[in-house]
Amino acid sequence: MTSIPTIDVHVAPTDRMSALTSDVRAGLTATPKSLPPVWFYDERGSRLFDEITRLPEYYVTRAEHSILAANADEIAIRAGADVLVEIGSGTSEKTRLLLDAMTRSSALQRFVPFDISEETLRDAAVAIANTYDVAVHAVVGDFQRHVGDLPRDGRRLVAFLGSTIGNLTPAQRHRFFVDLDAAMAHNEWLLLGTDLVKDPRRLLAAYDDAQGVTAEFNRNVLYVLNRELDATFDPEAFDHVAAWNDDEQWIEMRLRSRFAQRATIGALDLEVVFEAGEDLLTEISAKFTPERIRNELGDSGFVVEETWTDSGSDFLLTLARPYC
Ligand code: SAH
Ligand code: TRP
Repeated sequence: MTSIPTIDVHVAPTDRMSALTSDVRAGLTATPKSLPPVWFYDERGSRLFDEITRLPEYYVTRAEHSILAANADEIAIRAGADVLVEIGSGTSEKTRLLLDAMTRSSALQRFVPFDISEETLRDAAVAIANTYDVAVHAVVGDFQRHVGDLPRDGRRLVAFLGSTIGNLTPAQRHRFFVDLDAAMAHNEWLLLGTDLVKDPRRLLAAYDDAQGVTAEFNRNVLYVLNRELDATFDPEAFDHVAAWNDDEQWIEMRLRSRFAQRATIGALDLEVVFEAGEDLLTEISAKFTPERIRNELGDSGFVVEETWTDSGSDFLLTLARPYC
């Protein structure tokens, strides 16, 4: 108990800054304007996301929690792993159900949480190390660039929960799965959490809650740009918009300019002009069918072993392994 977590940092501050500047320049000079969602998650963004997980409208976390509560023992037995890796781990709250089950079934040795948000990761790593008799080896990195650098020792179960995979485009998902597959041995497992297609009204409520927490989370990306890139956005001059894109089967989160305005981004020596009503796309959240998950995994080197859903069939957990 109370061992001290090891923390590897794969994104040096200069790295992070060059990724941020090139993402922001590309996204804000394009038509339509967009920003990649990874930049939401500074300390405040992670805290707001944690609040989202407890909102009455945001069924996602509760549905996934209930699947884990009912099936973590079976998952742990099937995986037979002694290392749990968690991608996009955040606070690792639900993950405790897996840690408990793996402690019971397979003599869990090590937990490897992996996230871009360093402060949140450190806090979660310390909390887990204080509660569980496992070595905690946290890794700060970008899962779109660094999955190949994850520690490979032991026999791993790699959990990717929260439907964070749905925040990538189909092409980005393919690339991610191929990279992950290349980094996994044949006796290791992927546990993937995905939100399922459902009534768009429930989806829209989950991404546009009555208390406005999601709106504040969405605007947070502008606070990040102001602080880190010396920008002059007025976050309150943008409305939060959630829309269901039926062709793509994803929710789109946008920031809509309330009037014609401009902002400067000091670090990029860039001026950005918004028309009244112009949208900045900040996030997609794809919704899946079980067939689609099976096909996407199959197209990128994985074979599905088992799936589990909750009582309302809102969410799917999939256990898959690299093909031999
Ligand atoms: N797994 C948690 C948190 C989901 S929120 C849950 O299910 O509730 C998404 C998490 O992924 C955040 O902690 C965020 O910091 C992290 N994240 C987002 N983009 C990332 C990226 N490109 N690389 C690594 N972590 C990322
Ligand atoms: N992975 C989460 C999801 O798509 C992330 C998320 C939840 C999110 N609510 C959000 C991202 C609001 C941006 C804005 O469900």
